[in-house]
Amino acid sequence: MCASEYQVHGEVAVITLDNPPVNGLGLALRSTITSAVTRANDDKGIKAIVLIGAGKAFSGGADITEFGKPSALAEPNLHTVINFVEASDKPVIAAIHGVAMGGGLELALACHFRVAVADAKIALPEVKLGILPGAGGTQRLPRVIGVEAALNMIVSGTEVPAGELAKTALFDQMISGDLLQGALAFARTVVSEKHPLKLVRDIRIDYPNHQAFLQFARNMVKPVAGPFPAPLKCIDAIAAAITSRSFDEGIKVEREAFLHLVQTPESRALRHFFFGERAASKIADVPADTPLRKIEKVAVIGAGTMGGGISMNFLNAGIPVTILETKQEMLDKGVATIRKNYESSLKKGKLTQEKFESRMGLLKPTLSYEDLQDADLIIEAVFEEIGVKQQVFQKLDAVAKPGAILASNTSTLDLNLIANFTKRPQDVVGLHFFSPANIMKLLEVVRGTATAKDVMATVMQTAKKIKKTAVVSGVCDGFIGNRMINQYSRQAGFLLEEGCLPQQVDQAIEKFGFAMGPFRMIDMAGNDISWAIRKRHYQECPEITYSKTADLLCELGRFGQKVGAGWYDYKPGDRSAHPSQLVNDMVIKHSADLGITRRKISDQEIVERLVYALTNEGACLLEEGIAQRASDIDMVYLTGYGFPLHRGGPMLYADIIGLPNVLNAIRKYAKGHHGECWQAAPLLAKLAAEGKTFN
Ligand code: 3HC
Ligand code: NAI
Repeated sequence: MCASEYQVHGEVAVITLDNPPVNGLGLALRSTITSAVTRANDDKGIKAIVLIGAGKAFSGGADITEFGKPSALAEPNLHTVINFVEASDKPVIAAIHGVAMGGGLELALACHFRVAVADAKIALPEVKLGILPGAGGTQRLPRVIGVEAALNMIVSGTEVPAGELAKTALFDQMISGDLLQGALAFARTVVSEKHPLKLVRDIRIDYPNHQAFLQFARNMVKPVAGPFPAPLKCIDAIAAAITSRSFDEGIKVEREAFLHLVQTPESRALRHFFFGERAASKIADVPADTPLRKIEKVAVIGAGTMGGGISMNFLNAGIPVTILETKQEMLDKGVATIRKNYESSLKKGKLTQEKFESRMGLLKPTLSYEDLQDADLIIEAVFEEIGVKQQVFQKLDAVAKPGAILASNTSTLDLNLIANFTKRPQDVVGLHFFSPANIMKLLEVVRGTATAKDVMATVMQTAKKIKKTAVVSGVCDGFIGNRMINQYSRQAGFLLEEGCLPQQVDQAIEKFGFAMGPFRMIDMAGNDISWAIRKRHYQECPEITYSKTADLLCELGRFGQKVGAGWYDYKPGDRSAHPSQLVNDMVIKHSADLGITRRKISDQEIVERLVYALTNEGACLLEEGIAQRASDIDMVYLTGYGFPLHRGGPMLYADIIGLPNVLNAIRKYAKGHHGECWQAAPLLAKLAAEGKTFN
């Protein structure tokens, strides 16, 4: 234990939790706490103990990186520490600032007193990791803030400012000045006034109507929880807090549920998401302390579908945006759409009048490139034609100030080519937003061969400001997401030729958990767009095979929802997809024209072919260095393509299934219809042979 972790202030020992970045309660810190509490109890001069956090938090909870490792259970484990603190003969006071979350809050709940600054964030967020508070949180929190409030916090995992809980038994005092000084003063009062030690475990829960409330809670939570088991288990554990004969019996119920949940694939997927999102923001060769360019003014070129949504992201973050178009009419239309979107939020009560006005006030429409001279970041979102992009980037090169970042939202064009339209390719980067750009979390940051490191660092930081999950991609056709989806769509097409109908494919993959199957999805996006992309591919890479069924559909003008007909039929004003007899007949006839005898295809085969097509292409992207890490690919699919969160993404899902099993399936499909699509990625074969995983 180092001196800074144990300090004596008169009769009070101060134990500082010091394990950056958030004082996660890993084995080393747990050992420090028990030794320090022992030392304080052994010292006759010490009359009280203050537990306080160093840095930005009291504690962010159990060290999640330890889960599944022997150190998580190694003594002193979190239970031992908590029991030890609770059993201290001398009063222990938790002094809370920053965050007290999960195991951190559970530790504080085992202390005899708690003081806090009002803006400290209090939460039991375990449910977001697919588990429940496993160190007494489900038993102690209801005892201090009441069953209903505790249930809401535990089942949702939301954080509450300490100030809002000031009047509950969770806190003994709010500290307005210096936390340590306030905690020391409080400790001295406890000693001088001989306050008895208060144990939360001894508080009785008196809630006569608990059964009706718990039933109500279960009914509300079940549909929202979907495939995740944790939320209902949280309610079971809280029920045990009310109904168990003893506190320890309730703890046993909580413990069993925790040990069960932590092993579930759903929890593994959620923890993967937690770390994956954070890992994605790091770039191996760009140091964390890279100096950033300042981004205070943004400009967007093109006020169409994407330009409008992109602008809203910055307006929402309080960053002024100048939006440029070629014609007044297009400019007015784009601005009107932004205004309409905000008005709709205003009507729904999601935006105040004041915020509405301030956001619209930050938007400056223009037809003149001169107005872009002071922009720090300029994002191009004009037509997807290389000639148009060339014109725009040459103009930007002429007017943008030195050091301005020039970004393109292109989804299919070569970013390096675009960068070379300027004399400053080091300042050019791809910012591939997804539609609707103001809503979708994903942002692919496309790194050109010349893109400067500080440009990368700056856009990753800017992405955080506008609340996007940014994932770096190298330059290739389709970047990470669309290159992979191309393989998925190819399989969907071949499945139609072999025996499926669109609704069967959609239903199978939706049952697996996708928000929308491939045919419903493309009907929404527009079949004409992918038709145009396929035509380009047919020209550029004639060796790549596709099912022609989708082309036949487009030849019928069935472009999707926007024309009321696509793979499905649509009724005016209604987005529900109705299976189409005409399309089904067309699909069956196309198989006959190809001389294929249609067969019955199982849901399992549909899911395997669609998902493993993603996994296999993901492995190629990793090997080529287009994606930095497997979890980045999963983040792309979880935040941009509706891949089911509880499955963890195409790469983690393959890890869970087992890479040898995935490889065997791919080899089996390679012997079937259009087996040429199934060349197992060398990386997949290598990892499978070595008994390793992607993650
Ligand atoms: N264990 C291990 N690492 C953690 C952690 C934890 N509990 N909480 C955060 N970290 C790490 C992050 O991975 C990140 O690492 P990196 O810099 O290497 O990427 C770093 O701390 C900083 O995290 P953020 O970028 O999220 O920092 P913020 O300041 O934005 O947020 C936070 C801090 C609010 C604490 C946020 O990190 C958070 O919500 N953490 C998770 C809290 C949580 O879920 N606690 C429950 C843990 S499970 C538990 O306690 C079980 C118990 O009941 C038995
Ligand atoms: P869009 O057609 O809705 O909007 C393009 C806008 O750019 C139009 O308003 C047009 O008037 C304007 N424009 C054209 N030439 C211009 C010029 N020289 N200067 C200024 N403005 C000009 O197109 P959309 O869908 O917004 O696409 C824009 C870009 O975003 C394309 O590169 C596209 O590939 C990409 N993208 C599109 C996605 C989508 O789902 N629509 C998703 C991700 C990227």
